[in-house]
Amino acid sequence: MKLDILVLPGDGIGPEVTREAVRVLEHAAAKWNHELRLREGLLGGTAIHETGVSFPEETRRLALETDATLLGAVGLPEFDNLAPEKRPEKGLLQLRKTLDVFANLRPIVAYDTLLGSSPLKDDIVRGTDLLIVRELTAGLYFGDPRGISGQPGERVATNSMVYREPEVERVVRMAFELALKRRKKLTSVDKANVLENSQMWREVVMTVAKDYPGVELDHVLVDNCAMQLILNPTRFDVVVTENLFGDILSDEGAVLAGSIGMLQSASIGDRLPNGVWRGLYEPVHGSASDIAGQDKANPLAAIGSAAAMLNYSFGLKEEAAAIDAAVQTVLRNGPLTPDLKPAGTAATTEEVGRAVCATIG
Ligand code: NAD
Ligand code: IPM
Ligand code: MN
Repeated sequence: MKLDILVLPGDGIGPEVTREAVRVLEHAAAKWNHELRLREGLLGGTAIHETGVSFPEETRRLALETDATLLGAVGLPEFDNLAPEKRPEKGLLQLRKTLDVFANLRPIVAYDTLLGSSPLKDDIVRGTDLLIVRELTAGLYFGDPRGISGQPGERVATNSMVYREPEVERVVRMAFELALKRRKKLTSVDKANVLENSQMWREVVMTVAKDYPGVELDHVLVDNCAMQLILNPTRFDVVVTENLFGDILSDEGAVLAGSIGMLQSASIGDRLPNGVWRGLYEPVHGSASDIAGQDKANPLAAIGSAAAMLNYSFGLKEEAAAIDAAVQTVLRNGPLTPDLKPAGTAATTEEVGRAVCATIG
């Protein structure tokens, strides 16, 4: 099969973890005889340095041309005090919008071998296996009006949580479909006790639910959900929620999975005319400037995202499963990066990537 992939390493640890994900993709392509066509593009802070903008036209063109995009991370401390419009993160938001990848799938699994890496008690975390479906192209991140107006001392800052019914319906439907393939339980997370936006969200969820009588549905308020996630994470199967709520709740998942370096994601939208799901695949973590350039970032989130790409965009289930199995073997036997608190000497990013390839065989 021809695998036409755009790689956007981005900033900070992005290039380090992406290199290992590409290593694994190349290994898998050679083993299963796929033709891998990799192209590289600029996004984020490095793109601002080279072109003046965080989402260059060339990147937009490449992203629309290819079937799937693998992204590292964006964000550099030097841009931290700029307005959102001028920051590297803006490029990522534009990329998601351009690709219309409205459903961001963020699985959170607590592997038995990593229970010791979580600060929570083993009995709470053991058995955690949930999927956050985060709406990714609307909500508070994209709503108008937005901005800061007025004179210093009297300024008004505005952001708007805007959803149109079809935007809620499509992501909720996707979540129900995913729940059908899992343990058939869906939790919709909102703030319907305060926000009209959530009131409508909840109404749409209840309407869509009529098409899925086999899925058990409940509604949880986002504040309570944040608590339940670390009190009783095994109660969750699929969780569907608004863009910002999903962003916050998914980082909380790092505490369950042992490290943010374990959390992969797949962002998908509708199918392309050739039947492929156009997708954007990226770790949940950021550019981690505190550890960038030290070859100690955990590449497993990036590698897991590459496996998700093979699965969702290209339907290569066997290859994706083999990578996931190799990751689990590496988690059991090492080598592991320092974030996972390995018993012996901590490994480098590259050693972990090579170990995954060697384990795939
Ligand atoms: P972060 O995820 O970059 O880092 C949070 C903490 O987790 C840090 O201590 C970091 O060292 C650690 N960490 C992150 N990834 C790791 C990995 N793979 N292995 C080991 N440790 C890891 O979050 P932050 O510090 O809030 O954000 C830094 C920058 O990244 C910001 O500019 C932010 O906007 C950006 N960001 C980008 C993305 C993305 O591109 N998808 C996601 C989140 C944050
Ligand atoms: C994420 C990140 C991004 C988000 C930032 C970098 C724009 O935190 O992917 O979780 O908020 O969506
Ligand atoms: Mn985030």
